[in-house]
Amino acid sequence: MILVTGGAGFIGANFVLDWLAQGDEAVVNLDLLTYAGNLENLQSLDGHPRHLLVQGDIGNRELVAPLLAQHQPRAVLHFAAESHVDRSIHGPGDFIQTNIVGTFHLLEAVRGYWQALSPARQAAFRFLHVSTDEVFGSLDAEASAFTEQHPIVPNSPYSASKAASDHLVRAWHHTYGLPTLTTHCSNNYGPFHFPEKLIPLLIVNALAGKPLPVYGDGLQVRDWLYVKDHCSALRCILQAGSPGQTYNIGGNNEKTNLEIVHTVCALLDLLRPRADARPYSSQITHVTDRPGHDRRYAIDAGKLARDLGWQPAETFDTGIRQTVQWYLDHPDWVAHVQSGAYRDWVQKQYRSD
Ligand code: NAD
Ligand code: DAU
Repeated sequence: MILVTGGAGFIGANFVLDWLAQGDEAVVNLDLLTYAGNLENLQSLDGHPRHLLVQGDIGNRELVAPLLAQHQPRAVLHFAAESHVDRSIHGPGDFIQTNIVGTFHLLEAVRGYWQALSPARQAAFRFLHVSTDEVFGSLDAEASAFTEQHPIVPNSPYSASKAASDHLVRAWHHTYGLPTLTTHCSNNYGPFHFPEKLIPLLIVNALAGKPLPVYGDGLQVRDWLYVKDHCSALRCILQAGSPGQTYNIGGNNEKTNLEIVHTVCALLDLLRPRADARPYSSQITHVTDRPGHDRRYAIDAGKLARDLGWQPAETFDTGIRQTVQWYLDHPDWVAHVQSGAYRDWVQKQYRSD
């Protein structure tokens, strides 16, 4: 069996659902259920015999050490994190606590467990750390995409906290021999994406007749990957990656934010036209830019293709269409995530615009 942290969040939940659907290995899912953890993401697993959800903090060694000893996982996949850049600007403390201190405690609990395994099980064990392309900082328009050798130069409290956790993972491999794998993925999108992030925010705001907020000139570039392709890359790296290595994950889909907004609007015009027949793009509103906003991310995933043979299954066109359709097909999920706490966040982040 495997242990997943953060498996009630956006990517973690997609990973757990795909894992259980595609194999017969069980999952222990350790999640604190913060505002970003959503049990409705896992509703289809109610009563599933191979899924055990444990509500708890990755930083609580008194919880994590016995959990590892009891379930004896062959791998730990570490998704749990504070993940939203804008929240890290408003309040970096939680990011330091979970992403850095929490990862440290998790690594220590895993090291204690791993050191007690037999040599054969030690050699087969993997700690897969799910990180982000944001640790590489911002690219100029003409610069080559990030390779694994790109300097680590994070610019936001979020990316700095993820970079710090990457360094801890690297050191636990180098010093203690823990068989780690670290991944740097570009922007994900797809089902269960919390609507504080750009693409789901656009969909839910468009449908509600609200403004579609574009930070600054909207010409910042992100490199988008359908979440299920991220999950397939993680399964591939878990199975065949070399301990101590880092792998970039991306789908060669660089888009400006304005391109994203217009694509989402055009799909909604087609799939759910406004009652007054006006285009959803009429709701686009330029708002104050994010402080320290990184201009461009782009991932070179050539190492993963060359060494492990991974390729994404979706193009941006197929992935974004499925995503918009998923939100249209799940109005209850959308209504429930927009709870009181969500409304407080929207009020705080967008109030001056
Ligand atoms: P998310 O915010 O949707 O989910 C995070 C999950 O972690 C939630 O379920 C939350 O309850 C849980 N969690 C938070 N603090 C915890 C703690 N102390 N102990 C246990 N659980 C805790 O995040 P996501 O978008 O699914 O991202 C998952 C991982 O992937 C993160 O590490 C993130 O840095 C990384 N990543 C995300 C993207 C992206 O585009 N979303 C891209 C690349 C990498
Ligand atoms: O690159 C990987 C990262 O992608 C992950 O590590 C992060 O966890 C994830 O949140 C994401 O970070 P971004 O900051 O790129 O994603 P976000 O959806 O917040 O913003 C995408 C772009 O859209 C970014 O340039 C900011 C812009 N934006 C965002 C919001 C929420 C807007 O213009 N308006 C908005 O309202």
